Amino acid sequence: MTLWHGRFEGTMSDVMQACNHSLPIDIRLLPYDLRVNRAWANALCNAQLLTPDEVKAIEKGLQQISEEHVAGKFFPLPNDEDVHSLVERRLTELIGNAGKKIHTGRSRNDQVATDFRLYLKEAVAQLCDTVRDLGRALAAQAESHITTVMPGYTHMQQAQPITLAHYLLGFVSALEADFRRLQNVAKAVDECPLGSGAIAGAAFPIDRAALAKNLGFSRPTINSLAATSQRDEALELASTLSIIMVHLSRYAEDWITYSTKEFGYLRMSDAVTTGSSMMPQKKNPDAMELIRGKASRVIGDMQTLFTLVKGLPLHYAKDLQEDKPALFDAIDQTLICLKLFTESVATAQWNTERMAANLDPLLFATDVADYLTSRGIPFRAAHAVVGKLVQDAITQNKSLSSYTLPELQKFCPDFEKEVVDCFNVKKCLDRRNLIGGTGPLSVQAQIKHHEKWL
Ligand code: ARG
Repeated sequence: MTLWHGRFEGTMSDVMQACNHSLPIDIRLLPYDLRVNRAWANALCNAQLLTPDEVKAIEKGLQQISEEHVAGKFFPLPNDEDVHSLVERRLTELIGNAGKKIHTGRSRNDQVATDFRLYLKEAVAQLCDTVRDLGRALAAQAESHITTVMPGYTHMQQAQPITLAHYLLGFVSALEADFRRLQNVAKAVDECPLGSGAIAGAAFPIDRAALAKNLGFSRPTINSLAATSQRDEALELASTLSIIMVHLSRYAEDWITYSTKEFGYLRMSDAVTTGSSMMPQKKNPDAMELIRGKASRVIGDMQTLFTLVKGLPLHYAKDLQEDKPALFDAIDQTLICLKLFTESVATAQWNTERMAANLDPLLFATDVADYLTSRGIPFRAAHAVVGKLVQDAITQNKSLSSYTLPELQKFCPDFEKEVVDCFNVKKCLDRRNLIGGTGPLSVQAQIKHHEKWL
């Protein structure tokens, strides 16, 4: 029998059952549902609705359900439409009458919202750890490349020299923002809906503050209607996961490019690459491609959640059952991608000679313009002078640093012999030691900054 069979004469059709049943998805909530049942039994006891003996029987029954589940001796029946129905049915089979009292003052609406939040609390904690692991792996690599120079790009064209550490720390700073966003989600999740009933709150004197504490929440939710029908925490988490995946996919794209024969900056290990069934020589960056692909999947999950609640009346409706497949998937995929990227970072080999050899000498043009600016020439005029110089260098197939001082002075009389400093990579990086810059001191300061959250 279903939990709600009383007012029905007929039974559900097969196709309705197939559409309605959520057990294969929400079975994941079983450990949380058992905790919620235990806490609710104690709250009912404190409100004199259950005897201490009944609570003991309920706790024993819940324990047995947990053991049966772990041992794989768990047989759902056709009418166990979701995890909550299954637990109540099995509890009643095991302990009889006391099992029939467990749903006093409760609805599956506040129950599922509470189970979901308990699960999300743990998932968010795990995500925080995993984001941190990736941040640590990147920071460790950055530490050994503080003075390694690579071409920095804009528009996929070489732009200015940067340090490899700076590039890697760009990723770490994105992850730091992700970490903060996850912590905000943790705060949003930290309210207990239990006691909200179906819509209006339980009609019994339940101490909701104590109940919330008992379940590990900081406080109870403040409005029963909102608590059972809004899914803001799911939206916040899905948005945060989408941003994480966008970060991962952009770095994945870089790494795919950097590992090509044409760039050759990066060699990825066998652990995170695959071969071709046809072309024996191939080694493909599948880890990065999968991460890039899964980003669209997670963004799709976020889209599902937003369109699910958009325009939904502000009370529980069964549409909300569809929140779980989407958010579970987004969490699973993001976790696996974070772990895969961490492994890819830890096993990556950077070809620093290749990076240095690939530096286009024209990359120092901005430094030459900056030099003239420091000699009192307005930047726009300096930019034009160096533009002409670059044009000349390209037509003559010369490098900027090969011009003699008299040759340079033909472009602008303000050039002096110190202009050679513009073509010294080390000095070029040292000039950028301001906060957030690519200079080695700045990069070290960035690493120090990240130590706090890593
Ligand atoms: N399986 C349902 C869900 O996930 C539980 C709540 C059912 N509530 C109801 N009024 N039918 O949303």
